[in-house]
Amino acid sequence: MEITEEKINEIRRSVNIVDIISEYIPLEQKGRNYFAVCPFHDDHNPSMSISPEKQIYTCFVCGAHGNVFNFLMDYENISFIEALKLIANKVGIYLDIGNRFGKRITKNENMYEIYDIANKYYQNNLHTKDGIEALKYLKNRGFTDDIIKTFGVGVSGRNQLTKILKAKKYSDDILLKSGISSGSNELYDTFTNRIMFPLCDLDGKVVGFSGRIYNTEDSSKYVNSKESEIFKKGNLLYNYHRAKEECRKKKFVIIVEGFMDVIALYMVGIYNVVASMGTAITKEQAKLLKRLSTNVILCFDGDGAGNKATLACAKELQDVGITPKVVRLPDNLDPDEFIKKYGVEEFNNYLTNYKSLLDYKLEELKKNTNFSNSEDVSKYLKSAIQELYQITDPIVKEIAIKKLSDDTGISASTINGMLKNNNKVINIEKKQIVKLNKYEKSERELIFYMIRYPEVIRIYENNKCYLPTQKFRYLANEIVHYYDKHNNLLVADFLSYLSDKEELLEAFNIIDVMNLSENYTHEQIMDYINELNEYSINEQIKKLMNEFKKETDSIKKIEIAKEIQELKVRV
Ligand code: GTP
Ligand code: MN
Repeated sequence: MEITEEKINEIRRSVNIVDIISEYIPLEQKGRNYFAVCPFHDDHNPSMSISPEKQIYTCFVCGAHGNVFNFLMDYENISFIEALKLIANKVGIYLDIGNRFGKRITKNENMYEIYDIANKYYQNNLHTKDGIEALKYLKNRGFTDDIIKTFGVGVSGRNQLTKILKAKKYSDDILLKSGISSGSNELYDTFTNRIMFPLCDLDGKVVGFSGRIYNTEDSSKYVNSKESEIFKKGNLLYNYHRAKEECRKKKFVIIVEGFMDVIALYMVGIYNVVASMGTAITKEQAKLLKRLSTNVILCFDGDGAGNKATLACAKELQDVGITPKVVRLPDNLDPDEFIKKYGVEEFNNYLTNYKSLLDYKLEELKKNTNFSNSEDVSKYLKSAIQELYQITDPIVKEIAIKKLSDDTGISASTINGMLKNNNKVINIEKKQIVKLNKYEKSERELIFYMIRYPEVIRIYENNKCYLPTQKFRYLANEIVHYYDKHNNLLVADFLSYLSDKEELLEAFNIIDVMNLSENYTHEQIMDYINELNEYSINEQIKKLMNEFKKETDSIKKIEIAKEIQELKVRV
């Protein structure tokens, strides 16, 4: 049975968003709304408001916005269907999940099966004659049987896997696609003589492997199976599914570079850790980290590359609203080596004595500065001020200014002056970035009122106008479609409807949290419509002008010119 929109709405209405959110975070009532410290960014003041009337939440700082399902999806890191199930179970509504999302699950079924078979095969090898040497290597590195099992470690064999899979009737095509087999005519195992670590997706399903050399020389220490529809390295973090619960409990997450580091931390009982598997992290990975906790500790390798990775990772995290803390290990050691050398207590010392990102960055800048060279000092100050600009806490700022003044001999008031000037420049830059043209403003404001007033949806429908931005155009279409079907547009329900249309959901959130008057006048709406029509005509004119320029046939040229004239009259 398919889950109908009615059923989804029934489930949503069976609970009060205030009750559900209050099970996760403390709420405080002020007037008609409730407020909370936002769990989706590095928040210190209650920036999230929850409206019992509208049954939605909104964070005015990071823009998090949604209904009760969106909250659960983001907080628990679960899918829409899981959030639905969670609430349904809570209130005792029977939910037949059936096949609504069936397609998605079965689509790559073959690939999952292949990885599953491969995984079992590799793991089994480790305990046969072929695995003796690999097992010895692992034991030498401190792997216990438990750890081997937890992380599903195995070893690739002697070119048997492809044969096994072919005997199970998997096509060459899919074996190549999975990356488990290679070759053109005669397929063979991609991995031989490597210790195999399964790589899992967010749900813990195996979607790839990384193989490490242990008894051979090779220019690649690790080889990963190739990316596929279900395996995109930049979209996952090693150990994500195992670390989820622990991060929530411990209220922070540690990120390391290598998965061997994750395993090393596990060996000493630290479980709230994930790895980026390489150096730079992607935007997607930053978002994943944020789901684990907004309290992130970067603990990359103690070498120069680790330093670079720390800065790059911090930047990605800041882009998603997180200011990470930084741990730098000594002697170029990675976390694994450090723990082996100094023990877990010393490692925990480093963890608790983390540096703030600001202090870390200032130290880095300082390292590269020759304080007897005035140009160097000036450069140092300028870069430091760029960093200081981002700080909102006045005390942190003042302490940093004092330090800067001590280091450079430049007075605190001069530094303050530089900071103010810098703020001006940056504020102007910022404004330019978000400045919308009048058409873009009109389209957003029009939709803002469409969401609130069915009459405005009607006006929009009756005055068919073309919206300049694709995602907003699609969103407006969805609003019309939804309204026609349901004869109402309850935001909390509409959000469920958008739940599998990520781009539109984002577009909706941008608009719904805009700070506009709740009331409108008919004239105002018509102004938007007229502006947007003007835009569309101007676009048509532009297009015709181009055609006009390219056209060589003089009769056709005249026709186009006429068309342009007619359009010009209308604006
Ligand atoms: P060990 O040397 O086994 O202790 O691993 P490590 O965690 O110290 O590895 P390293 O710091 O060199 O690399 C960190 C991560 O980068 C690893 O976990 C791998 O995911 C990735 N990596 C390292 N070397 C290679 C390589 O040669 N090829 C690929 N594809 N990835 C690599
Ligand atoms: Mn290592």
